[in-house]
Amino acid sequence: MKHLTSEQLRSMYIKFFVDRGHVQIPSASVIPENDPTVLFTTAGMHPLVPYLLGQKHPAGKRLTDYQKCIRTGDIDDVGDSSHCTFFEMLGNWSLGDYFKEQMIAWSYEFLTSPDYLGIDKDKIAVSVFGGDDKMPRDEESAKLWEKAGINKEDIYFLPREHNFWGPAGTTGPCGTDTEMFIKVKEKCSKDCSPACSCGAFLEIWNDVFMAYNKNADGSYSPLKQRNVDTGMGLERTLCVLNSEQSVYDTDLFENARKKLEELTGIKYGEDEKMTKAFRVILDHIRTAVFMLGDQNGIVPSNVDQGYILRRILRGAIRHARTVGLKEGGLNEIAKQYIEKYRDVYPELEQNSQKIDEEITKEYKKFMRTLEGGLKEFERTVKKLSGDTIDGVTAFHLFDTFGFPLEMTVELAKEQGLKVDTEGYKEAFKKHQEISRAGSEQKFACGLADHQEATTHLHTATHLLHAALKKVISPDVNQKGSNITAERLRFDFNLDRPCTKEELQKIEDMVNDVIKQNIPVVMEEMTVEQAKKQGFIGLFSNKYGDKVKTYRIGDFSKEICGGPHANSTGELGHFKIVKEQSCSAGVRRIKAILEK
Ligand code: ALA
Repeated sequence: MKHLTSEQLRSMYIKFFVDRGHVQIPSASVIPENDPTVLFTTAGMHPLVPYLLGQKHPAGKRLTDYQKCIRTGDIDDVGDSSHCTFFEMLGNWSLGDYFKEQMIAWSYEFLTSPDYLGIDKDKIAVSVFGGDDKMPRDEESAKLWEKAGINKEDIYFLPREHNFWGPAGTTGPCGTDTEMFIKVKEKCSKDCSPACSCGAFLEIWNDVFMAYNKNADGSYSPLKQRNVDTGMGLERTLCVLNSEQSVYDTDLFENARKKLEELTGIKYGEDEKMTKAFRVILDHIRTAVFMLGDQNGIVPSNVDQGYILRRILRGAIRHARTVGLKEGGLNEIAKQYIEKYRDVYPELEQNSQKIDEEITKEYKKFMRTLEGGLKEFERTVKKLSGDTIDGVTAFHLFDTFGFPLEMTVELAKEQGLKVDTEGYKEAFKKHQEISRAGSEQKFACGLADHQEATTHLHTATHLLHAALKKVISPDVNQKGSNITAERLRFDFNLDRPCTKEELQKIEDMVNDVIKQNIPVVMEEMTVEQAKKQGFIGLFSNKYGDKVKTYRIGDFSKEICGGPHANSTGELGHFKIVKEQSCSAGVRRIKAILEK
């Protein structure tokens, strides 16, 4: 086997296929442009779905590229030797052009020829579709492999779960496939095969023979044209070719890894816990760089892709604490990636300022959340009798302080304590049920659903209500409220239009409170206690004995069912878009939150 750098492998692959009549196309965005069913581009074929279905591609019938992909399904496994949330897929396509015979011959040539990867054929195993009641066994591919030079005993027929690929979403092009493996160690038993989890076979390439479309009802119909779709994982292939211990030992991560060693004074690979933390940071920051620096770049938020990005960044920040990386350290790691990938993904450098700023912003935001949580954690430990933090308390730390369970468990461990994680799960489930029940009584707080966007607008409604009382009159009261994911609507008693100056003042006041990032504190108490403490509540007769109260510093105090943002800093920029008459003596304000 040859020793190749990532740059060499990428260009060798592309050149091989360009030399064989393919046109190189650029990597598409990691955010799928026309597929609302998935959050990220998960395979090289993903952006090509319309063409695999028969639409004409402007570059022709033979295409090749390297494609940025994100798969976060196994995020909890990151830290081992092979899982990454971001990876690159080298691929080539035949859109109704060549099929099995040509592709298997090329695959064999690329893998074994001394001009290309130069892998000893005896080290290669392949799998082919074993057949079932829907589709026949793929004898043709097996024969073609044998003809090319693969040993008969290295050809495995495997069932559908292993050798049928696709579709990328719930419907779309798919087909039987043949996968290529490197034999890295002895088989664990006589029956061991590439389907075995012992690690004897490492997959590096997959040729899919796309002949079907999966329909919404689960049935398959033949495609207009027979396609080939292949995918070679760049990280994995590099790792196997160069006999590295893990993907994190490849040159893709080298500069970032060295920077991390330099900034922390810890040597990668010496201590198991630190190595895992290093790998999580290396993986997550790389993924964050590609999400933030993408041509359709996203920013952290509480919904969809932005939520995944937030989770990934916060995971990196938590592990940065483990290895003692200081503020600004993650930005340094990000810079190493921008540099490493500058020639192949120039968009990263074009967006380098944004990448830097967003990492800093999220770091600061999460740190504020953590500080509150840490204090609460210390209080909890002081009050504790026994050695276990109960599930409800652990959930409270999460719900009110955004303190992830993992973190509570880690901190508890440091103090020789345990956490009742089962109890936590129960508390979590109960909370979800209460939230669901709560959303059915939407008249109570005007809340239409519980998505994060509406949660933020809900908190903004409380701020608006308080600001109206302060700017116009304490006699201004809520007459109605309605929230969608896009905007809030708030009705209140006033027998004249608000002036421009008043509206400006209200906007400024709300934005000022948002800037101060004041925690939103929930407390349960009786209606009497709440009233005594100056909480306002409009539907007090509907509440039971105990009520939930939400306080935002000294600015706003309301009886309400929730849910709310953890602190006002999450809200973004508050903007009033309309003020109008609603009915006699009642005005209506519509407002939005901008990122
Ligand atoms: N689309 C195929 C895969 O992702 C090549 O493995």
